[in-house]
Amino acid sequence: MDWKELYQQKLRTLDEAADLVKSNDRVVLGHAMGEPQAIMRKMVEKKNQYRDVEIVQLVPYTGMFNTPELAGHFRYNALFAGGSTRGSIEEGRADFTPVFFHEVPRLFQYNILKVDVALIMVSPPDEHGYCSYGISVDYTKAAAEYATTVIAQVNKYMPRTFGNSMIHVTDIDALVEYDEELPELPPAEIGELERKIGEYCASLVKDGSVLQVGIGAIPDAVLASLGDKKDLALHTELVGTGVIPLIKNGVINNKKKSYMPDMSVGTFIMGTKELYDFVDNNPSIYMGPVDFVNKPSIIAKNDRMISINSAIQVDLTGQVVSDTMGHRVFSGVGGQVDFVRGAAMANEGVSIIAFASTAKGGKISKIVTDITPGSAVTTTRNDVDYIVTEYGIAALKGRTLRQRAEALTKIAHPDFREELICAYELRFKQKFPREILED
Ligand code: COA
Repeated sequence: MDWKELYQQKLRTLDEAADLVKSNDRVVLGHAMGEPQAIMRKMVEKKNQYRDVEIVQLVPYTGMFNTPELAGHFRYNALFAGGSTRGSIEEGRADFTPVFFHEVPRLFQYNILKVDVALIMVSPPDEHGYCSYGISVDYTKAAAEYATTVIAQVNKYMPRTFGNSMIHVTDIDALVEYDEELPELPPAEIGELERKIGEYCASLVKDGSVLQVGIGAIPDAVLASLGDKKDLALHTELVGTGVIPLIKNGVINNKKKSYMPDMSVGTFIMGTKELYDFVDNNPSIYMGPVDFVNKPSIIAKNDRMISINSAIQVDLTGQVVSDTMGHRVFSGVGGQVDFVRGAAMANEGVSIIAFASTAKGGKISKIVTDITPGSAVTTTRNDVDYIVTEYGIAALKGRTLRQRAEALTKIAHPDFREELICAYELRFKQKFPREILED
């Protein structure tokens, strides 16, 4: 049958689409800003017809199924926590499943998390009947491939991205046409502190490097410090607004890339309307599934891979905590370890964990003698490479525990160094070499 006829046959109203979800179903929701909000809103409106629907998602945006009034109807199973879901996890109204981002599709493929319904958002079809997953290819593609039922909101505002990022109308069970602007994430404000961290990170970026950077003030500050580099490339998890100037002015040109040259590679997109317009119909942006883009062995094919991520706490041995504060789930591992390990395997690869030396207005040091009990180690001390704060760079790879403690104390905030020095002297039974603090 002609795909256009099929398309017409599969068109549903919001009500009809919402009715395809049944009690006790496991629903995998499109990622981050790729949530099909119109269908979600309808499901919330019709909440009384659902009991115990499990909602699986990595980065949440609206957290729409998470409010206390929806308990018993929907229960959220978070693969990553965000502002809209942290509270419900803490209050016991939602669950959290630890998982590397690149392994999420395997959970669906091997029925570890059997997908009953994939609830996704796509672009309108092209003349061949292919819709694009747009800003959210990541695990969304796998969810649709392994789901019993695929329900898609077709939204003309969803950019049409290229790569391995398409689904044919034949593979969608129900289509709902509903246009709504995508949510935007404004660029972060970069202060003096972030600028310093950005400059230290940039000093580790060689010409011809392949970047992975996230979003937020520090990643944006790093990107803003790269203006005088040459022939940079992008193989990243998240494509954010901060890369646009570097691509437009040719600093990121992907020309010297050893793997997939001439293309910026990513798995999801989050940012401003300017970014969504930039990636729309742009063949230089390759969007692929996360089990490909974030797979450490794929990342490792990029010579001079450099990954830049952040952390909540680092202990004196180099254990990095990025997703918990004690027992409190703060975010998730996401792709941090995927990229730390991929970079470690790449020729001349480097990974950086960069953060401000203190939190809570300077009251708490992020470099600590011991991590807070209950916290999960995200990047192990065996994986860690460079740590950067506004006080400098600590190179930890291949360094002894004693050398690590020295290097980390040196980049800790001065207000907390004495505490760290005491711990050092007790632990290593020797005086701390204070002269290194003067360099
Ligand atoms: N103790 C107590 N509070 C802390 C803290 C600590 N050690 N470290 C941070 N905080 C607080 C901050 O004060 C801030 O609180 P506020 O919002 O009330 O001011 C909040 O936690 C966020 O801290 P911030 O440093 O601004 O975090 P961020 O937004 O830069 O995110 C991570 C940092 C580590 C949470 C984030 O990068 C992450 O989730 N990483 C794991 C996933 C990943 O790396 N994925 C790959 C990249 S896409």
